[in-house]
Amino acid sequence: MSSVKEQYEAYPYPERDPKDEKRRLITGSPSHPLEMDQFLWNGKRDWTKPLKALVAGGGTGDGLIQLAQVLTGARRPYQITYIDLSTASRAIAEERARMRGLKNITFLTGSLLDAPELGPFDYIDCCGVLHHLPEPQAGFDALGRALAPEGGLGFMVYAPYGRSGVYPLQDAFARLLAGLPPKQRLREGRRILANLPKNHPFAQNRVVGDHKRSDAGFYDLLLHSTDRPYRVGEVVQALDHAGLRLAGFTSPALYDPSDLTGEMPLPEDPVARMSLAEELRGTIRMHTGYAVPKPRAETVADGHDLSQVPHLKGVAAAPLAREIEKRGQIKIKTEGAQVTLKLDKAIAPLVAGMNGRTPLAQLGKRAGIDPIAMAALWYPASTALLRHGLIHYSRLLC
Ligand SMILES: C[S@@+](CC[C@H](N)C(=O)[O-])C[C@H]1O[C@@H](n2cnc3c(N)ncnc32)[C@H](O)[C@@H]1O
Repeated sequence: MSSVKEQYEAYPYPERDPKDEKRRLITGSPSHPLEMDQFLWNGKRDWTKPLKALVAGGGTGDGLIQLAQVLTGARRPYQITYIDLSTASRAIAEERARMRGLKNITFLTGSLLDAPELGPFDYIDCCGVLHHLPEPQAGFDALGRALAPEGGLGFMVYAPYGRSGVYPLQDAFARLLAGLPPKQRLREGRRILANLPKNHPFAQNRVVGDHKRSDAGFYDLLLHSTDRPYRVGEVVQALDHAGLRLAGFTSPALYDPSDLTGEMPLPEDPVARMSLAEELRGTIRMHTGYAVPKPRAETVADGHDLSQVPHLKGVAAAPLAREIEKRGQIKIKTEGAQVTLKLDKAIAPLVAGMNGRTPLAQLGKRAGIDPIAMAALWYPASTALLRHGLIHYSRLLC
């Protein structure tokens, strides 16, 4: 049986070349400071206070580099600890940080199970790791214990339905290729995959593609020795056991079945609703979200408070504003489906003015909208944009 450490020493994942840091920054979820603020601190974190963070199972460094680079770019203080079992992955992450001249990072080789001894942390990133632990719950629990009372976790764990076809292949390859060194496992795995029938569920699955991108991707997807997916209810349970509460998934709309079911009555219980959405969609291959210690009050920003500063995610303000002004709606793609989002044309000047530094109240004033009308106009638009993860609130740049 090939161990997790052996895999990531042979095939650090994701495959990254530190030289690429010269030409691009990889951004994503979790662990972009704007998104963290949106879900963990009501969009109101005081970023002049140093952020003490742990990147648990940091791999080749995507989450680490994003966090450190965005905070460095915004001239905000931080102290980040990176920990991973794999020395090969750490070497790549360290080199990426060096290429960018990023400071205040401590690199450790070890297990995230030791996180409580390193903390407490204001923020923990754990992306794509917990489902690879022999006892994942011990990992959730360790991270829960390592968080400061006002802290939060950004996580990603695999989900079963969007990974259809993956697990029978992992099981078969594990038995067939047991005892072979990683390079040979990869060679044999690729050869056998090429012989599978064209209508194999894995071949039909269009939401997984890592095996086509790199050797490390193939290994991670199909040859992993320790990989268990979580249904949404299981995520909530695992967090609960660790003393944590789900703050939210980064794309809440995916977890709302009403877009699919129309007017039908749905369960009140939020987990039951999310489970229905997961089962109906069948395409969710990972759960990406944020969690907080249970005693914390609501931590997600909602756009009610006009002192908040909005940031658009993944879309430029000017073309989005033009689209809203012209059509009163925008089209977005989520999980392979095209969704039309209706928005009041009157919000176009607000969107056009969004620069990550201007609070809502001031955007309204500039657009000649009085505060009462502003609240009534903005809240529904904010709710719609938040549902699709298209907007975050944060004072990071103020
Ligand atoms: C799929 S990679 C994800 C890397 C990174 N978080 C990312 O999202 O790009 C999983 C990483 O978790 C690390 N890992 C697995 N179990 C671990 C543990 N118990 N403690 C620390 N790291 C672990 C592996 O070595 C590997 O680098």
